[in-house]
Amino acid sequence: MNVLILGSGGREHAFAWKISQSSLCKKLFIAPGNAGTNQVGNNVNIGVNDFEKIKELCISEQVSMIVVGPEDPLVNGIYDFFNEDASLQHITVIGPSKKGARLEGSKEFSKKFMIKHNIPTAAYQSFTKDTLEEGYQFLETLSAPYVLKADGLAAGKGVLIPETLEEAKESLKEMLADAKFGDASSKVVIEEHLKGIELSVFVLTDGVSYKILPSAKDYKRIGEGDKGLNTGGMGAISPVPFVDRFFIEKVEREIIKPTIKGLVEENIDYKGFIFIGLMVENGNPKVIEYNVRMGDPETEVVIPRIKSDLLNLFKGIGNGSFSEVDFDISEEVAATIMLVSGGYPESYEKGMEINGFDELEGSILFHSGTITKDDKIVTNGGRVMAITSFGQDINKAVNKSLQNAEKIDFKGKYYRKDIGFDL
Ligand code: AMP
Ligand code: GLY
Repeated sequence: MNVLILGSGGREHAFAWKISQSSLCKKLFIAPGNAGTNQVGNNVNIGVNDFEKIKELCISEQVSMIVVGPEDPLVNGIYDFFNEDASLQHITVIGPSKKGARLEGSKEFSKKFMIKHNIPTAAYQSFTKDTLEEGYQFLETLSAPYVLKADGLAAGKGVLIPETLEEAKESLKEMLADAKFGDASSKVVIEEHLKGIELSVFVLTDGVSYKILPSAKDYKRIGEGDKGLNTGGMGAISPVPFVDRFFIEKVEREIIKPTIKGLVEENIDYKGFIFIGLMVENGNPKVIEYNVRMGDPETEVVIPRIKSDLLNLFKGIGNGSFSEVDFDISEEVAATIMLVSGGYPESYEKGMEINGFDELEGSILFHSGTITKDDKIVTNGGRVMAITSFGQDINKAVNKSLQNAEKIDFKGKYYRKDIGFDL
């Protein structure tokens, strides 16, 4: 079959890398893709939210499977766009319906969903401009630090964790009255601050049955020791050592099963990934958030650990055989280290020539912010590429990636050398 992947990051390169190995895959397109995806498939210069152009491509190239990388097109309803058009209904879209995408697109919707279906999560209340005073009062009942979340999508920046009551009130006012995040913060969820260890669990579902993918932990801060500004993610490890069978069974019982059951009960069409962000204290998991897509860079460690044919799993989602498709995970540890542009996550330069590809040994390279210019591969974003390695333990996997991180060369290159330090 011909497959189209939407997106342009390391996540999408990892999908493309895996799907291109499937004997079921005839032609692979990535829109818009990056310099790496073009090596395993064909980049097409179409934006992820340009549904009409995507439709044209699918018809002219006889695409029968679309894998949606980022949340934006999902929240904008790409699943429904394909599902409601008679000429496109034969195409399987891996990603939830618009209603399902609200699990990520609206913090309030996802909190309501969790409370309704008895899924453990932080206590919360939500407020608008008209209830700002009540918001202040609610903050006074909580203890520091405070957690304020813009209801809508805010490019990953919509969560504030102020340390003092004063700052919390000021931030709440900025979000609601001064529209700090535009429309996204016209409603704000304030919630109890959870303590513990954060990790992510990933599920692939056809809306009824599900498969639990490997767990992963990402490292969001720019600096070593988890210090400094937040980024999209500087590296990841899979599996997370304390995620044993006993713990996963607990997550499955308390969180995954009620989530799938909730989707069924609410008639939410959901064929895709669920990324469950957890906070774990004393072995008890609570949901921090749902994302309706895979994580980046978590995908760069989760996907390589899947031994089975991913496209066959997706095909099963499309034809109703998903629950019977075999599903094998590698026992090895995978680590990925993100090489970023100097200055990121603040301002940085683009267009730096990248060299050293031929010297890479024993790792898999997933491009993120790269582009081909005059036959050269140059940087085109803050996160430039992820270097993934396998090992018998975290140290071995990380060290292999570190050795190769030295060989890739571009002006301003920066990466964390301590990925996995806390595990
Ligand atoms: P989110 O966008 O919901 O993932 O939030 C971004 C980050 O804020 C999370 O990865 C957590 O580190 C932190 N966070 C969010 N909600 C809470 C909470 N209730 N308690 C503690 N930390 C939180
Ligand atoms: N690495 C976190 C995310 O993809 O949201």
